[in-house]
Order: sequence, then structure tokens, then C-alpha cells
Amino acid sequence: MLRKIKFFLPARVVFGRGSIEEFLPYVRSIGKKPLVTTGRRFARESGLLDTICKLLKSLDINFRIFEGVSPEPTVDDCIKVANAGKNFNADVIVALGGGSVIDVSKAAAVLIRNPGDMQDYFGEERFSSEPLPVVAIPTTCGSGSEVTRYAVIIDPQANTKRTVSSERIIPKLAILDPLVLETLPSSLMAGTAMDGLCHAIEGFLSNKANHLTKIFSRESINLIMDNIIGAVTDRIFEKIEMVFLGSLYAGFVINHTGTIFIHGMAYGLAIKYGIHHGTANALCLPYALKFLKEHGYSNEIEEIERILEIDKLFDLYKKIGIPSNLNKIGITKNDVFILSEMAVKGCERSFRNMKTTFDRDDFVKIFSSML
Ligand SMILES: [Fe+2]
Repeated sequence: MLRKIKFFLPARVVFGRGSIEEFLPYVRSIGKKPLVTTGRRFARESGLLDTICKLLKSLDINFRIFEGVSPEPTVDDCIKVANAGKNFNADVIVALGGGSVIDVSKAAAVLIRNPGDMQDYFGEERFSSEPLPVVAIPTTCGSGSEVTRYAVIIDPQANTKRTVSSERIIPKLAILDPLVLETLPSSLMAGTAMDGLCHAIEGFLSNKANHLTKIFSRESINLIMDNIIGAVTDRIFEKIEMVFLGSLYAGFVINHTGTIFIHGMAYGLAIKYGIHHGTANALCLPYALKFLKEHGYSNEIEEIERILEIDKLFDLYKKIGIPSNLNKIGITKNDVFILSEMAVKGCERSFRNMKTTFDRDDFVKIFSSML
């Protein structure tokens, strides 16, 4: 039976070379005083921040810059950005960066307009006042945050990642200009593209998947798998462009489906061991898919295997520099227990998108298989 299809994306999405120059002027129709947020280095060192500043100045727009969002952002990053926004009396945030910058900007947009602490707003629709609008300009090719209803933030109090979730934090305008990826380091391109691939696959396996999201999932998997080697190792621009498009489509998917337990499993690798979000997901992916095949998802995994051979992921990882087991990143069997404990906590939300749940012993089996 065809599952009910719901699709809602209250955002203008533009994709293509030169989109920043063409569409950034639209910011004027959204707000008068933008706070431009970036991470620690890439936007400035690549010259991109400079380009944005020149463009805003040429439009006579009064703006401020906040630089230094952490790559694994915490509640503290959100508070700092919110304070910068309040001090400047900003009425729009222009988020220029990867998923961390965009997520923090979306969460700070809530904090600026609502009186509580960040912890008050984790969960579904937990705030009352309309957040500040966000314009997202992604500089990596994987998070999909430019088109999603989520902001994923580390809550040190809970020692896990938590999510602010609301249709009201979806950026009003997403500008995807593939030219920004020309200077993205290959390792980051590989990690973020693999994050996109995980979104497409996890979204495909989610209870909330429908016919339309599966179209985007399949196309996203094909775009990323067909082009990732040429993009990462040979830096072929047309291939980079296609991977970027694949990551956008995966964003459309998870905005509706959420992710499943692979993201939850990987949280511990990112939080405790500092492994990049996308790389951590990529590392878990083949092992988690094999486990799922044996644990209630055989039909769904067979469907995935018609597009993507799971074992071929290991060959791919060799070519694009993604570690294929835990030993390669210095994690040993002594770490399996703590990773499994963290996975149980990290998966609380994603189990809602699955037809079965797993306990600590299941995670011990999966992480042990990853050694
Ligand atoms: Fe992700």
C-alpha cells in the first residue's frame, strides 16, 4: 500500500554556480541587519567571507560578523551567537559554513527571540516566539542543514547531542553555490559527502519514508556514489557539483524522515573521540547495514543493495581516505563498552524512526565487528 505522502519545504532553495552573487541580495527582503556567522577558519581563509562582506557592503547593508563556531558545536556556541545577535539587534542570520555553523545559527535564532535557556528548546516545537529568519550558505557538501528542520547541538549536561526541531527553523533561503567547494579540503569533502550518503540511506530506511522521499534518496545515493571519487581524489568540478546536489537531495529526505540509528551510534565517536561527524557515520554505515539485514530489515537492505553494494563501501573508503575500521583511528576493544552506552543514549530519538530498537548488547556486537 502506498504510504501517505507529505512534503512541506517553506524555503527558497537555489543551486548553481554563481548563486551567491545572484541571490544574496534577496537577504534585503528578509531582514535589514544581518549577523553573518562562520566557523573558525575556512570562510576567512578561502576568501569567501571577504566576498560576502564586499557583496553586503555593495548593497549598503549594515551587518556584523561572528566568527568561531566550533566544528562540534555545543550549547555554549549557541549562546555566544545569540548574544552577538542581540547586541547588534540583528533581524536575520546569514549562516556561512558547514552543518555546525548552520545548526548553531538556527538554534541561536530561537534563543534570540525566546527567553529561556537552550536546554528548554531541545525537542519538538518547544518554543513559542517565531525565531529570527536564517539564510544558509553551505560550504560543505553533506549536512543538508540548509533545508532541514533540525539543529543538532552537543548538550554537555546530558553528554550527548540533542536536537531542536521545528519547521520554523528551516532557513528561509538556502543558497548552494558549488564554487564555494573548490577550496574545500578533500578530507572534509569526503567526510561531509559520506554524511550526505548516510542521510539518504538512513532516510530510505526510516519509518517515515514515503514514495517521494525514496525518489530523493535513490537519486542522492546515485549522485554521491557515481561522483564522489572524482570529486574527492581528482577534484573534478562537475563531479563536486553532483555530490553537492546529492547532499541537498539527502537534506530534503531527512527533513521528512529523520535519521535512524547510524547517526545515534556515531555520536559517541564524535563526542568522545573527536571523529568528524560524517566520517564517524561513514565508519558505522556498512557494519550497521549488515546488522540491520540480519535483524528485521532484510527486504529494505536488499532494496538498498540494488543501488549500492555494501562491501564496495570498503573499496571506496580506501580511495577517499575514510577509515574502514575502529583500529585505524586508535579505538580498541576497551572502548567498545563506553561507545555502546553512548549509542543507547544517542539513539533514543532515532529509534522512533525504526521498527525495532537495539540495546547495549546489540551495540557491543556491532562495535566489536567494527574493530
Ligand atoms: Fe549528519
